[in-house]
Amino acid sequence: MDNPLDLFQQWLDDAKGYDTIDEPTSMTLATINSDGYPDTRVVLLKDVDDSGFVFYTNLTSTKATQLQQTPKAALNFHWMPLNRQVRIQGSVTPVTNAEADEYFASRPRQSQLGAWASKQSQPVESRLELEKRLAKYTAKFHVGKVPRPEFWSGFRLKPIRIEFWLKQPFRLHDRLEYTSTESGWNQRRLFP
Ligand SMILES: Cc1cc2nc3c(=O)[nH]c(=O)nc-3n(C[C@H](O)[C@H](O)[C@H](O)COP(=O)(O)O)c2cc1C
Repeated sequence: MDNPLDLFQQWLDDAKGYDTIDEPTSMTLATINSDGYPDTRVVLLKDVDDSGFVFYTNLTSTKATQLQQTPKAALNFHWMPLNRQVRIQGSVTPVTNAEADEYFASRPRQSQLGAWASKQSQPVESRLELEKRLAKYTAKFHVGKVPRPEFWSGFRLKPIRIEFWLKQPFRLHDRLEYTSTESGWNQRRLFP
């Protein structure tokens, strides 16, 4: 396949169609902190096309702060039952407000209220403090739509490198690497 995004979409569809894969869109997001250390956590892929891979989060969280400082990141998908891994590197930009509004509006009400209640990645005194904040915003927005908090939005990672890994017997795995160039994608095979 000439376009790795087509292959990615095919693998993602396979994962979504696989019974024992619970969160097929979950991916490990690696960022870089201010000391140069890599940091990782799992987030959910909410959109993907030629423009990149989109995920949503709290803009004051550790990951968002790191991305604002160093807008470069990596993603890793591992669909173990399919024996497949995808590694992606790229640069990251914020999604538009319109995109974030549209996605936020599609979320369950409880998740919308949870977004308001959570000062993600900041210390919290107790579980009760979180529950009190949730109650506060549940009361505040008890009628009508829950608006998107200004501190909650998404990022889009535009890939410069995508590697597809497929397990093969005796560790002789297939590795297909795509790198982005001015004229399109270059493809090469790597030793396992
Ligand atoms: C399966 C799974 C899905 C998750 N999805 C998201 C997500 O889409 N957005 C998000 O901000 N955190 C998500 N989290 C929580 C993050 O892993 C992480 O704990 C949180 O975002 C704080 O990370 P940070 O302190 O590096 O910013 C998810 C966790 C798991 C295990």
